[in-house]
Amino acid sequence: MHPTYELTDAGDRYFDGLADKFSRSLYQAPRGELRLAMLDYLLPQMLHLQAQPVLDVGGGLGQLSGWFAARGHTVSMTEPSHDMLAHAKAWHAEQEAAAVWPPGQLRYVEAPLQALTSQAPGPWPLITCHAVLEWLGHPEQALQTLATLLAPGGQLSLMVFNRDALRFSNVVKGNYQKALSGQLEGKGKRQRLTPISPVTHDEICQWVGQNGLHIESVAGIRIFQDYVRQAPEKASDQATLLALEKQYCQQDPHWRLGRYLLYTVTKPEADV
Ligand SMILES: C[S@@+](CC[C@H](N)C(=O)[O-])C[C@H]1O[C@@H](n2cnc3c(N)ncnc32)[C@H](O)[C@@H]1O
Repeated sequence: MHPTYELTDAGDRYFDGLADKFSRSLYQAPRGELRLAMLDYLLPQMLHLQAQPVLDVGGGLGQLSGWFAARGHTVSMTEPSHDMLAHAKAWHAEQEAAAVWPPGQLRYVEAPLQALTSQAPGPWPLITCHAVLEWLGHPEQALQTLATLLAPGGQLSLMVFNRDALRFSNVVKGNYQKALSGQLEGKGKRQRLTPISPVTHDEICQWVGQNGLHIESVAGIRIFQDYVRQAPEKASDQATLLALEKQYCQQDPHWRLGRYLLYTVTKPEADV
């Protein structure tokens, strides 16, 4: 196992030792709730879902794998961090016990994305890779691996941490020097959750094109929430903010400053 709080030899940040902090600071907070609500709203529109098998790459605490399992998909959840995977399995077991989905819908592969061409080669009709690229030393290489794993005609749901949004939020918070220097990325040390490789929309367009893939659709996730001066306290204000996020998440210019960018990427059908 890799030493806790260090980068791997490939320069990736596995979340060993971060499960509790990640869960607390994201999924037990309003921003995690909003992220899940937005995915619940967008994924059925952005993907053609036909209960096809799913490969969830870097599945973390297992929320997205659970979302697909509850909709009748069999899911292979992959995750290199033993710690995260243990949390995901425990939560999935609770969900199964509560009959949210039938037993046997999920299987687990404890491995990094780089090992999946041998450990879960597919090819897969549907792959999800959410909020993982920004934790890799070489995110552009990951696109190549994902393209190899994807079946002809298959769909990739890709979500990445948006470098432009990180700059904007640093300015909003008054971190002017940091924004001016362009040194926005985290170092992946200790328990910091600032991604080490935030990416831009232009980079995604370039990497997708280089691998013979195509962007079908894009949306911004948390386009307003991170910039509001006062977090909404009343439930009715939270609901109105969610309505705003839904209304503008795919509209120019708003999607471009989403904290995350969500893409549906497809691989062309094989030539006949
Ligand atoms: C921010 S979390 C995202 C988890 C989940 N996909 C989600 O959206 O909540 C990033 C995850 O990527 C994992 N990760 C880091 N390096 C990876 C790699 N090389 N291959 C696959 N996953 C990796 C981490 O262990 C962590 O669980």
